[in-house]
Amino acid sequence: MNKLVEEINEIFNEALKKSGYVCDEENLVQECAVEGMGDYQCNMALSLAKVYKKSPMDIAGDIASQLEGNDLIENVSIARPGYINFFVKKEKIDSFLCDFDEKFDEKLNFCDKKVVVDYGGANVAKPLHVGHLRSATIGESIKRICQKVGCETIGDVHLGDWGLQMGMIIHELSLRHNEWVYFDEKYTGEYPKESPITIKDLETLYPEANAKAKSDEEYMNEAKKATLELQNGRRGYVALWKHILDVSSKDLKKNYDHLNVHFDLWLGESDTQKYYDYVIDEITRKGLAKTSQGALVVDITDESDKNEMPPFILKKTDGAVLYSTTDLATVVQRDKELGVDRIIYVVDNRQEMHFRQLFRCIERTGILEKNIEMDFAGFGTMNGKDGKPYKTRAGGVMQLDSLIRDVESKAHEKILQSGKDINTLSAENVENIVRKVAISALKFADLSIFRAKDYIFDIDKFCSFEGKTGPYMLYTITRAKSILRKAGFSASQKAFDTSYFDSSMALQLLSYKDNILRAYESLAPNIVADYAYKLANKFNSFYNSCNIINEKDDKKRLSLLTMTYVVERVLCDCMSLLGIEVLDKM
Ligand code: ARG
Repeated sequence: MNKLVEEINEIFNEALKKSGYVCDEENLVQECAVEGMGDYQCNMALSLAKVYKKSPMDIAGDIASQLEGNDLIENVSIARPGYINFFVKKEKIDSFLCDFDEKFDEKLNFCDKKVVVDYGGANVAKPLHVGHLRSATIGESIKRICQKVGCETIGDVHLGDWGLQMGMIIHELSLRHNEWVYFDEKYTGEYPKESPITIKDLETLYPEANAKAKSDEEYMNEAKKATLELQNGRRGYVALWKHILDVSSKDLKKNYDHLNVHFDLWLGESDTQKYYDYVIDEITRKGLAKTSQGALVVDITDESDKNEMPPFILKKTDGAVLYSTTDLATVVQRDKELGVDRIIYVVDNRQEMHFRQLFRCIERTGILEKNIEMDFAGFGTMNGKDGKPYKTRAGGVMQLDSLIRDVESKAHEKILQSGKDINTLSAENVENIVRKVAISALKFADLSIFRAKDYIFDIDKFCSFEGKTGPYMLYTITRAKSILRKAGFSASQKAFDTSYFDSSMALQLLSYKDNILRAYESLAPNIVADYAYKLANKFNSFYNSCNIINEKDDKKRLSLLTMTYVVERVLCDCMSLLGIEVLDKM
């Protein structure tokens, strides 16, 4: 809880005690609901009225009479049916604000866990689609929020690089280029260093192979066979697969960089191969693996289950491992090699059952060396205006790079419409502005609603400079930066004196850390986005109510600039927590 509110709570606790009321509520005050009536309000008289069978107005009066003489709050008033409204003394706000600013860069020591955030989850050789956009955006922000509260974080992209799609591509290539040395089983020499396939080839290879596999059973069986052979280490296939992995990862990195999404680990499903046998042997040794319809499975049902809990599959009938095996092995790897305390999965809600099974299987088999806290931070779907998952006009799933291109051209249009003078800038500069505005639009829209909810992709709304949008946030920040720049303000000039304006913006600043903690507790970046939006609104009204740069009264001018400085600092920090890059000028 923010220190100011903590101190106010103490005063109210004391007042309750002195007036003879007992109340076990911890937080006794909240932001005042009516502008101008107070900074905060206490509603305890209403609930105490029921307990003490007295009128709430009388109780409020009793409590208020005990509030006199303190040096923190003033102008206490009572409003029907029993609210106590009050203000915080300005000089107190100043000293809290000064303290807040001084400690701003200190690490919050709220949690010291070692946390893996599993997000991104792109599939090698398959195009990145909008479903992956949400994982990247939300995961990056959750990782940054965890870091901010003190955790040691590891972001792992967990590439999908070991499944059937690899077998499909290998099979398709074997049909097209049977002469390639990779398909010659007798070949024992070294394979070429240079990849025979490019990213352009991959763009069409998978969709074509997938379409064929869907309609042709024979083809599908061959693809499955190739998958198993790859998993069993067939040399030529492994060499080819490594090329595909390289080419694909390079391209993915470029895409993620563009989104300001950065991973500490570029591991994938395939990196856990060395643990498959361990996982399967351990579970078998414990007598928990059984064969069901030819597959090796773990029964994870529980008497208390209300809904069906399907068995967790370790090996398919043909002996191939699958998504469940790789995820189980990944947890074992993170336990043994990274020694993590917590894993947060940022994955589409539609995979919730898979993770419920995974968590249950880990608990049931006791396969880990230490207890790891595991969370499924699921997210909803980005829908089109028709309420169905967003698609291109042709009907396919929209690929990420074409989505970004659309948003960039819309952002460019909006920048020009809003009258911002970018024509005098260099092409490179314009490109940078357009890109950052576009990514802010895409990310802020995604992060300003609770992650588990679906939302509608509305490019016009997202790119607007008005309303709860990324461009509005970036514009507000450049406005603050520009004031500070024009005024030649430097941090050494800071002077905290809020007597010149209403307290709500200052109090909003003081609740920053509370909001970060709440965001961490619910793994909900939208709490940071909401907070930042509210602060930006308050700053814009503050900006409109005074003329900061031309203020004649030096003391007042310095106070206004100091506030601008702190707001700019906090807003930039919020954007960084959301993984959104800001601009200096626009
Ligand atoms: N590659 C998966 C997909 O595209 C997402 C991976 C999520 N993470 C995990 N540990 N299973 O659906």
